[in-house]
Amino acid sequence: MVPTTSGRPRYVTYEKRDGVAVVTLNRPEKLNALSREVLEDLLEVLEAVSRDPEVRAVVIAGAGRGFCTGADVSEFTKDLREIGEFIDLGRRVFELLETMGKPVVAAVHGFALGGGFELALSCDLIVAAEGTQLGSPEINLGIVPGWGATQKLLATVGPYKTRELVLLGDRITAEEALRLGIVNRVVPVDRVLDEAVAVARRLAEKSPVALAAAKGIINRSLRTLTSAGLEIERSTFMEVASTEDAREGVRAFLEKRKPQWRGK
Ligand code: COA
Repeated sequence: MVPTTSGRPRYVTYEKRDGVAVVTLNRPEKLNALSREVLEDLLEVLEAVSRDPEVRAVVIAGAGRGFCTGADVSEFTKDLREIGEFIDLGRRVFELLETMGKPVVAAVHGFALGGGFELALSCDLIVAAEGTQLGSPEINLGIVPGWGATQKLLATVGPYKTRELVLLGDRITAEEALRLGIVNRVVPVDRVLDEAVAVARRLAEKSPVALAAAKGIINRSLRTLTSAGLEIERSTFMEVASTEDAREGVRAFLEKRKPQWRGK
């Protein structure tokens, strides 16, 4: 296990297996929800991984019963400035995944929801365990996605399925995500990490130069298509986060009750 330098409790672990770095979100008691500290650890580990010459490919997985259930909702009880900083921290993590020259494979199981779905969508390939629930449930908390789901989905599944996912906030299974082209393969849960590592090993055998170039073509082109939309998404997220409905939705989640929407 490679240590971090922060000295804080570690929420992300990192081990190397023959040229493949396996990065694991490790906050299982909260289903790996992304708090500020988790994002800081993830950023630190991904920066180390992207610099490490021994690492040719990366796998991201989650410890416990799910991959990741998105932003830690309690972050949205803070003031707007802190919420903006939190969103931008997440954007840095997701951008690093997309711009690092090394390929990244997500190994998802259990849940990949909200920012957890967006984390997977920032990886180059997604291997999912059978029965994994994926989706963008932010609407059920009175907020909207803020880390790229609207744009990635528009580019992947088109406006109608994007609306179904984002407006209804329903979860879909890995099997449906495979049909829609959002994940690459679905395997039994006990195989998901090995399968993701096997895919990463195949990638690690390619020319690092050509691989980084191919990844760059795809992600830079996608970014060209989505950059205006990503800014619309961020600014709209911040507007919505400042409403009473957002405060109520977040509070209701934390109090484990149904929200009462007031439309303002
Ligand atoms: N933020 C903060 N806490 C979260 C969380 C999140 N995104 N996702 C899960 N947790 C916490 C739960 O509050 C619970 O904490 P507690 O044990 O202190 O009460 C713990 O993780 C386990 O989750 P729980 O809800 O008890 O598990 P479950 O199997 O009953 O339900 C989910 C699983 C995924 C359906 C449910 O946790 C959920 O809806 N999470 C939020 C998903 C979401 O809306 N993400 C977008 C956030 S913007």
